[in-house]
Parts: sequence; structure tokens; C-alpha cells
Amino acid sequence: MTAVAPDGFAAGPTGTGETAGTDGEATGTDGGATGAGGGANGGDGGEAGVGGGETGADGNESYRLNVDGFLRTVNGARLGDSLLTVLRDTLGVTAVKDACEQGRCGACSVLLDGRLAASCTVLAADADGTRVVTVAGLGGAGLARAVRAMFLAEGAVQCGFCTPGFVVAVTDLLTRHPDADEEEIREALAGNICRCTGYGRILAAVRAVQAERSLLRSGDAHSSGQTQRPPDGGPDGG
Ligand code: FES
Ligand code: FES
Repeated sequence: MTAVAPDGFAAGPTGTGETAGTDGEATGTDGGATGAGGGANGGDGGEAGVGGGETGADGNESYRLNVDGFLRTVNGARLGDSLLTVLRDTLGVTAVKDACEQGRCGACSVLLDGRLAASCTVLAADADGTRVVTVAGLGGAGLARAVRAMFLAEGAVQCGFCTPGFVVAVTDLLTRHPDADEEEIREALAGNICRCTGYGRILAAVRAVQAERSLLRSGDAHSSGQTQRPPDGGPDGG
């Protein structure tokens, strides 16, 4: 099923344009299959409580957000500002992309207490007390590194605008379901829209990550088996 970009989907970056973790150029090739369409990318902000915030006389909010492991003070944000707006406009976290602002494209994906969410659909003040992790906070090692590397290696990055959201979503998926099958991958990424790649290269990147991680796991199992001492009384156990 083809994912359909919503009207008004912005093709270009709206901020300073960095795409954390997707530096470098990649020449994408057209892919065949498209991700299963239709699903929105979460928008579930978890059970974040509003704790410790203050509302000034002018109605502006003051509170703190834990963003990528750093406690950031938010001053002067409006009561109804989305987490996306506060991340980008108040805190300068432009790795989170702004496109549809309707929870339909996945460009603004973040993790809230480990749950995938579209930050444009979450009130920033409601994220007070949660751990907000953007693509920049996923870390430079492990699974997130592999996802970034395979997106580049497989040509899943063209303009790169959608890539931060995809990297967050794929990392989330493979954390929860390392061996997700094709249908599960398509379903999980249905809320992320890419206007450049045709999705085929993105799916290839996900499968490449799975293959690499599977090899690592089997290598780990092999080496731990080699160093494991035989049980007492076993064939070699004396
Ligand atoms: S900007 Fe499109 S889902 Fe948030
Ligand atoms: S929107 Fe350009 S690479 Fe996805």
C-alpha cells in the first residue's frame, strides 16, 4: 500500500537544516515497494505529567524538559506550543524536523520515555517529567549507529529531510522487534513519509541492519560458547 504524502508536506528543511546522524551524502536509488500507508506516526505522548511548571502573568509557560539527557529550561513558550515547536524554536533542537504538523509524516518523531511519538502532536508542557530523545540523542554506537550507517550505505538518504524521523522510528522498531518481518517493518514505518526514495532503499537499509545485528548476535553467541567452561561432570569437565 502506498503511503500518501499529506497536502502541504514541506519538502525542504525549515530550520538550520542539520540532520543529526545523517551527515554525508548518499545517492539513493529508486526503490520499488512503498511502506504500508495510512498509519499516523504515533502522537501518543505517554502519560507525561505536567510537573513543576509555572505559568507567568502573560500566560507563557516556564518548565524544564529532559532532552537527550540534558535538563533544558523552557522560558517564554506559549501554553499551547507543541513539543516540536519548543524543541526547534525555543531550544534550537533542529534535528527534529517540521513538516506536516499534523502527526502524519513522521518527520518530527522522538521517543518519549521510550515510546515513539510525533512531537508535533504533543503539548510541550505535557512532556515535562518525561525523557525526550531525539535522533541526536540516540547515541553514536550500537543499534542507532547501525541504522544511520545502513541508511547511508543503502542509499536511503536523498534530500535527508525525512531521515531523522526514520532513524528514530527504525531504531525504536528494531529495539522492540529485532527480527521484525517485512509486514511488521512496513506497518511500523507507515507513519513516516519520504518523498525521495520510493521507500525501497529504506526497507533495504532496515533489512541490512537486521542482517548485521543478526551476525553480531551469532558471533557473540559463538564466542561466548567457545569461552564457556564445560559443566562439571561433562565430557570435558573432569
Ligand atoms: S511534522 Fe509531520 S508528523 Fe509531526
Ligand atoms: S524526503 Fe527526501 S530522502 Fe526522504
